[in-house]
Amino acid sequence: MDLLQPNSPQPKHSFSPLIFTRKQLTHFSLFFFFLLILVTSFVIFIPSNLLSSIAFFSLILPKNQYNSTTTSTIDIDTLKACDLSNGEWVRDESYYGRFYTEECPFLDPGFRCRRNGRSDVDYLNWRWQPKECDLPRFNATDFLERSRNGRIVFAGDSIGRNQWESLLCMLAHGVSNLSTIFEEHGNPLTKHKGYLSIRFQDYNLTVEYYREPFLVVVGRLPKNAPEGVRGVVRVDKLHWLGSRWTNTDILVFNTGHWWNRDKTVKMGFYFQENESINMTMNITEAFQRSLTTWKSWVLQNLDPEKNHVFYRSYSPAHFRDGAWNDGGHCDRNTSPETDYTKLETESSNNLNNLYVSHVIKQIESKKRKAYFLNITYLTEFRKDGHPSKHREPGTPVGAPQDCSHWCLPGVPDTWNEVLYAHLLSRDFKVKLK
Ligand SMILES: *[C@@H]1O[C@H](CO)[C@@H](O)[C@H](O)[C@H]1NC(C)=O
Ligand SMILES: *[C@@H]1O[C@H](CO)[C@@H](O)[C@H](O)[C@H]1NC(C)=O
Ligand SMILES: *[C@@H]1O[C@H](CO)[C@@H](O)[C@H](O)[C@H]1NC(C)=O
Ligand SMILES: *[C@@H]1O[C@H](CO)[C@@H](O)[C@H](O)[C@H]1NC(C)=O
Ligand SMILES: *[C@@H]1O[C@H](CO)[C@@H](O)[C@H](O)[C@H]1NC(C)=O
Ligand SMILES: *[C@@H]1O[C@H](CO)[C@@H](O)[C@H](O)[C@H]1NC(C)=O
Ligand SMILES: *[C@@H]1O[C@H](CO)[C@@H](O)[C@H](O)[C@H]1NC(C)=O
Repeated sequence: MDLLQPNSPQPKHSFSPLIFTRKQLTHFSLFFFFLLILVTSFVIFIPSNLLSSIAFFSLILPKNQYNSTTTSTIDIDTLKACDLSNGEWVRDESYYGRFYTEECPFLDPGFRCRRNGRSDVDYLNWRWQPKECDLPRFNATDFLERSRNGRIVFAGDSIGRNQWESLLCMLAHGVSNLSTIFEEHGNPLTKHKGYLSIRFQDYNLTVEYYREPFLVVVGRLPKNAPEGVRGVVRVDKLHWLGSRWTNTDILVFNTGHWWNRDKTVKMGFYFQENESINMTMNITEAFQRSLTTWKSWVLQNLDPEKNHVFYRSYSPAHFRDGAWNDGGHCDRNTSPETDYTKLETESSNNLNNLYVSHVIKQIESKKRKAYFLNITYLTEFRKDGHPSKHREPGTPVGAPQDCSHWCLPGVPDTWNEVLYAHLLSRDFKVKLK
């Protein structure tokens, strides 16, 4: 399936001591000189972005070989002990195309950056290298086999959709007949409302997405609501669609981009607990209460033996010289940040990550498979991975840049590699009841 096979063994040259005559040496030098000219002109006359996708060059530039383990040789104990969140981005020309391309039919038009005019391609040539171990190589067939007869659910905001689409394409890469993968209710993937469920027919598997930016209920106004209140976020009630998340095998939650003043209080949305609106509850407090609600729901509704539950950490945005609605941009970034001190970590989001990781610690156990999918640090470097001005066709000229979502293929593929590694570390396999 893979076009590039970075794992295949390199041809080994064995050099034996040879004795050359002067004439032979001259011939050799001439030959090598000619070869050098040939290669150099090749390099000069081909745009550099093309070069990176030419396997020939990944062969003569064997640096950063992807020496990850194959599925059969994974050492679960090493993986379990390894901190996957910490490491570095390594340039790797063989990375692009490993999982899928923009041709994947499950991609939002807004995530297909090259089709939307992005001409630099270097953002595709980076892989995440954890400090303490190698990421297991993503094996779509293996993931699909482990998930046979199962359900995988993503619930959260549109960045969760970004990750969902990435996983759909990564898995679809392991299926030869794409017509066997379809939306269960015939819904189109764009302009969706509520939720979508993609069935992998040959594996009796669904991979679903629920759009719930707060995960809790966003509800109508109670009677006698104070003036200026247009809606409420019920921090004490998990979203009613939660009833569909119980009998699943892998659940990936996320929130983040809506828990701020712009998308709540400034829009007239206040927080409600029990029967009354609490006009003084701030965002931090409200987010914590919603997490407590989420935690109770997990403990009451999920089966610790069966459900693998993830909460993905915050996905940082990279607006520079202004906010998203204020001329902020990211289109000049063509490679990841290399200087850690230049990362603009938003403290409120780091605080939210801390709350999430605490809650996960409270519920995880030998029996209960709960994971904090900590991708914030690795994602902070990737200021080059956003659609920026290459938004979906039909976007008006002068519209704000998109420095929140991610081009696909792109950074969320790495989140899913990390997700897969976590699952392998617990030897995930669908358990039928
Ligand atoms: C991928 O997984 C399948 C199914 O488990 C297995 O047969 C195959 O050898 C794996 N491939 C690699 C490269 O590990
Ligand atoms: C997430 O991972 C980064 C990098 O390892 C680490 O610095 C940070 O503390 C982690 N966040 C939480 C909340 O554990
Ligand atoms: C498909 O999976 C469901 C569980 O999600 C199971 O109940 C059903 O028997 C499976 N169907 C087949 C044909 O294996
Ligand atoms: C692909 O799958 C579809 C739907 O199941 C089926 O109708 C079609 O015959 C398959 N095509 C091939 C080449 O197997
Ligand atoms: C909401 O109701 C719960 C359970 O009835 C109670 O424990 C809690 O104190 C109430 N919260 C407020 C703010 O009234
Ligand atoms: C509103 O929430 C705050 C916490 O943010 C709490 O201290 C206060 O008691 C709540 N007020 C009511 C009326 O529940
Ligand atoms: C939010 O409210 C809590 C409890 O009322 C308080 O401890 C905290 O300092 C407040 N945070 C901010 C950022 O105002």
